[in-house]
Amino acid sequence: MSFKDQLPSYDLTGKCAVVTGAAGGIGFTVAGTLAAAGAKVVIADLNEEASRKAADELKAQGLDAIGLACDVSSKESVEKMADLAEEAYGYVDILINNAGVTIDEKPILDVTEKEWDFVHGIDLKGFYFTSQVFAQRMKDSGKGGSMVNLTSAAGIMTPMYVSVYGAAKTGVKHLTGIMAKEWARWGIRVNAVAPGYVKTHMIDKMLENEKNAKVVMKSIPMRRYAETQDVANVALFLSSEASEYLTGVVIPVDGGMMA
Ligand SMILES: NC(=O)c1ccc[n+]([C@@H]2O[C@H](COP(=O)([O-])OP(=O)(O)OC[C@H]3O[C@@H](n4cnc5c(N)ncnc54)[C@H](O)[C@@H]3O)[C@@H](O)[C@H]2O)c1
Repeated sequence: MSFKDQLPSYDLTGKCAVVTGAAGGIGFTVAGTLAAAGAKVVIADLNEEASRKAADELKAQGLDAIGLACDVSSKESVEKMADLAEEAYGYVDILINNAGVTIDEKPILDVTEKEWDFVHGIDLKGFYFTSQVFAQRMKDSGKGGSMVNLTSAAGIMTPMYVSVYGAAKTGVKHLTGIMAKEWARWGIRVNAVAPGYVKTHMIDKMLENEKNAKVVMKSIPMRRYAETQDVANVALFLSSEASEYLTGVVIPVDGGMMA
């Protein structure tokens, strides 16, 4: 076998990928990138119209995608979405746990139970049960699959004023390892991406404050925010056979911030 023959493939032809929270932001770029690599992609976001619109944008580029409504904080909603995804495309090989929310930065003493429940219901509970729903199907089919979870630098470092989001994302990182170990026997790989600052709707408000934005930029050795494509490239690697011996890892995509 020559080294050329052994080069890994990023080709996802014949695979189906579900990307949660993919109507915009990082999720949309991940969905487009996986579709460009050949996957049939399910955009699963809160709002059905927004999901369909995003899928239409991919279809206009000749890619294969559908948009479905899904609220990851409800296991029932995830089961329904999974059924529709299978109806449309057959087996789901890849799950990208991308849906996520945060609240404005604030000291722990000002956080309410409602805010805690809102963020944790989506970022931690939602991620947990979405993974459970698809892992069960991957186990039952005997075909295995690959999951990629969106954690965050805020779940690895301990920045002040993002306690609620940081705690949820630490949970995602922690569970990535446990899921990887529990599910390896069924051929399910579970890995995570930990972005630093990605210029999306999620951090726009925080960077409106010029002083904040300056401090943030100084903390990034590469002196630029991540593009959504930077995250999507790693998600593609973790979804494809190029990473077939990786499970339970967390890859930072942060321009050197956590180095
Ligand atoms: N932007 C960043 O700097 C950054 C950094 C690290 C990690 N992340 C993580 O990346 C992921 C994507 O973030 P983004 O910046 O693209 O955010 P975004 O706000 O642009 O997009 C989030 C998407 O999730 C969807 N969503 C929200 N609640 C949902 C629910 N209950 N069910 C299904 N979908 C839901 C939204 O409709 C939206 O389309 C999140 O998990 C986020 O925590 C983002």
